[in-house]
Amino acid sequence: MPLPYHLLYSLNITPWHRSHVHHHVADTVARMKNGGDALDLGCGKGTDTRYLAEHGWNVTAIDMVPKAVAIAKRTCEDVSLHPEIFLGDVLDIASVVPHLPYQFILDNGCLFSLRLSQQNKVLETITSWCVSPAMMLRFGLFTEESLKGTMPESWKTVWIDAGKPRYRIPGDPVPTWSLWSLE
Ligand SMILES: C[S@@+](CC[C@H](N)C(=O)[O-])C[C@H]1O[C@@H](n2cnc3c(N)ncnc32)[C@H](O)[C@@H]1O
Repeated sequence: MPLPYHLLYSLNITPWHRSHVHHHVADTVARMKNGGDALDLGCGKGTDTRYLAEHGWNVTAIDMVPKAVAIAKRTCEDVSLHPEIFLGDVLDIASVVPHLPYQFILDNGCLFSLRLSQQNKVLETITSWCVSPAMMLRFGLFTEESLKGTMPESWKTVWIDAGKPRYRIPGDPVPTWSLWSLE
């Protein structure tokens, strides 16, 4: 179900925001030492965008909320390897961001609120620009089956770190981090 992000930002209700990156982001960046082109989907206030740029990545970021994009640009304004941060909808990503040979895709809580078929379509588009070897790190509320169903076939699971279900209902989506590689 789409979340009312415009309203939440206008009310300053952004409980997902952290000023430090999650350890899965830091670990993945550490394992990809060579850098390259990275794409940050739903960059929010730009914490991860900044971290990637500080670690030598040429970062392209996108978010659909003007306030988030404005804050993300401020977050990154003094970084020497300047990220490009675009206002736009990931559903229309091909007309918003440059079609670069991305080697790292970060989806930290963006795509999961779209329908599964929409997630797959966005990821198919991005995958057609990626060059191997590439990695994709994703976070969202998923069942393992629904998560796998969203991924284009060329991405192989590296690991899936699923949180605990709230009510132990089989098939209940849980907060899930996952890392994928494009061979
Ligand atoms: C849960 S927040 C996570 C923000 C950021 N990645 C972080 O970890 O702090 C999800 C972000 O994705 C953005 N978003 C959601 N749907 C989007 C869409 N269809 N196109 C572009 N951005 C979207 C929201 O505006 C929001 O900033």
